[in-house]
Amino acid sequence: MRRISLMEPILTEEMINSAVNALKNERFLKGKSVNEFENYFSEFTGVNHAIAVNSGTTALHLSLIAMGIKSGDYVITTSATFIATANAIAYLHAKPVFVDISIDTYNIDPQGIEDAVRKHGDKVKAIVPVHLYGYPCEIDAILEIAEKCGLKVLEDACQAHGAMYRGQKVGSFGDAGAFSFYPSKNMTVAGDGGMITTNNEEIAEIVRSLRDVGRSKAHQYLHEYIGYTARMNTVNAAIGKIQVKYLEEWNEARRRIAKEYNRKLDGMGDIILPPKCSSKIKPVYHLYVIRTQYRDSLKEFLESRGVECGIHYPIPVHLQPPYRKIGYHEGMFPNTEKWAKEVLSLPMHPNLSNTDIEYIVTCIEDFFRVVK
Ligand SMILES: Cc1ncc(COP(=O)(O)O)c(C=O)c1O
Repeated sequence: MRRISLMEPILTEEMINSAVNALKNERFLKGKSVNEFENYFSEFTGVNHAIAVNSGTTALHLSLIAMGIKSGDYVITTSATFIATANAIAYLHAKPVFVDISIDTYNIDPQGIEDAVRKHGDKVKAIVPVHLYGYPCEIDAILEIAEKCGLKVLEDACQAHGAMYRGQKVGSFGDAGAFSFYPSKNMTVAGDGGMITTNNEEIAEIVRSLRDVGRSKAHQYLHEYIGYTARMNTVNAAIGKIQVKYLEEWNEARRRIAKEYNRKLDGMGDIILPPKCSSKIKPVYHLYVIRTQYRDSLKEFLESRGVECGIHYPIPVHLQPPYRKIGYHEGMFPNTEKWAKEVLSLPMHPNLSNTDIEYIVTCIEDFFRVVK
């Protein structure tokens, strides 16, 4: 039977050679490939500083520390995300204040942010919007609220490398942006890895120190902060610095594939297609996600035909056990709860062929012929 995987990380000879070269000729940590990768990534994203760390979660965590988030602070975010977004807030003993998403984009609803600020007042210190599936949030509205209320903004761009809003890359709008290079992402470092992007010199300096055990620039054994062992390994950076060269080409392939899916799936069964691109919003389709009331049976059907699917994510963060313990429960965020019940991720990666897409669409057609 034909087998089509949901995602497929890319690793070429050029990347392997770069890794081997770094292993043979550079220091395992703080090698020159780390600097090179940071430079390429900051250039790609259009920011002054990019700081490589060991995961996207770390990128979020260290950015929040550098922004001054402390125990007892409230940080507004969404529950329609991977749990790491909220965990980074919780690590600081700050409270993740979830607000509902827009059911059209699956991203945080700016109106919900305003309501939460009105409700919690001065306790709120920051907003962490997530560009879910590589689809940019309503950044202008979010920045406006942040400006008005004196809040920091940390963009969770862990799924959105290269996504654009008003012609500018995400991760360059807020006080900082956080990226992940986990193997399923639009680009990887062949293992865990992350990047912090910022135009803020002070944030950049603090996270550079925090990732390196809080070291000062002045002396190797003078530690300014209680820091972390959170650097990116040189060998991973050596792969990342090659991957970033191809990212735009891969993102373009994803957009082409999404267009093809959209064309073929439009009007089929009860399928709701992903939110649309516009002149303002250029997504990168980290995932291609449809919605249907028949989500679970369609997934089972497709997998019986060799088409691997995913659910991102089946349990909203506010209903995960640690967050239930702090008072969140069913019924609080209706759009998010609906989203979690209906979303289905279809295979999406740059090497998906037209024949693969044709096969997947035919399977979906077969399914709806029986269901209807
Ligand atoms: C939206 C979002 N935030 C944060 C993370 C955490 O990234 P990492 O797995 O690299 O720690 C991920 C990745 O899995 C993610 O998708």
